[in-house]
Amino acid sequence: MRKDFAPVAARVNAKINIGLQIVRKRDDGYHDLQTVFYPTDFFTDDLRISPCDEEVRFVLDSGEDLGDSENNLCVKAFRLLQKDFGISGVEIFLRKGIPTGAGLGGGSADAAFTLKLLADIFQLPVTEEKLEEYALQLGSDVPFFLRNQPVYATGRGEVMTPIELDLSSYRLKIVKPDIHVSTKEAYAGIVPMESNIFLPNVLQQDIRTWRDLVVNDFEASVFAKHPELREIKEGFYRDGALYASMSGSGSAVFGIFRQ
Ligand code: C5P
Repeated sequence: MRKDFAPVAARVNAKINIGLQIVRKRDDGYHDLQTVFYPTDFFTDDLRISPCDEEVRFVLDSGEDLGDSENNLCVKAFRLLQKDFGISGVEIFLRKGIPTGAGLGGGSADAAFTLKLLADIFQLPVTEEKLEEYALQLGSDVPFFLRNQPVYATGRGEVMTPIELDLSSYRLKIVKPDIHVSTKEAYAGIVPMESNIFLPNVLQQDIRTWRDLVVNDFEASVFAKHPELREIKEGFYRDGALYASMSGSGSAVFGIFRQ
């Protein structure tokens, strides 16, 4: 299905994890986790999809047409929908602002927004549930970005319950040092453990209590390997953060401050 359409654009946001517990290793090699995903536009990407003579063309803002574009999650998202619906003829343009290897979900967010925009452009007969299935094939964090609201997530991250959490009256700072953490390696450094706290309840408490209660299980092993990340977190607390943590499997570290 080739189609003439007006170019569509989206500002793609990142996420942070507030609390992240790895509770068990599953038979399929993934881990069950418990986390809260919180969307943030502290970092954003720009995504634009326009008509194109080729089946699919992927262009980064540098203007380069990447040789290995098939590995890009945007192109993988296109391929999934192409397989089922025969769509064709799109240029996917991406300007990266969200750092990669950061635990901020940048690649996942691009994938989710690509799915959404393509479903819209081609008026595909897909339910939200079906779109979430496609999303999960692209990565564990991708379904979250279809909803893009604060959620408590379990399973691989795709079993989501919306929660009331509004941090807009605080100031969020995120630092992404020049350290790239592989998610796969970060999981390898974890001994899964059942959790005895229920995050959605703890996050309803005064934010100053989070420091002692809300943990990211990846911190111990990732900080051991990269002590400068612990330094950043401690620096946030010295500067008056109410709560600070690494996001996802790192290496981004965020702090939540009074305005
Ligand atoms: O799903 P995603 O592609 O983001 O995962 C990257 C890697 O992280 C997986 O191959 C797996 O090793 C690990 N992972 C995991 N459990 C999860 C999510 C990711 O073990 N819930």
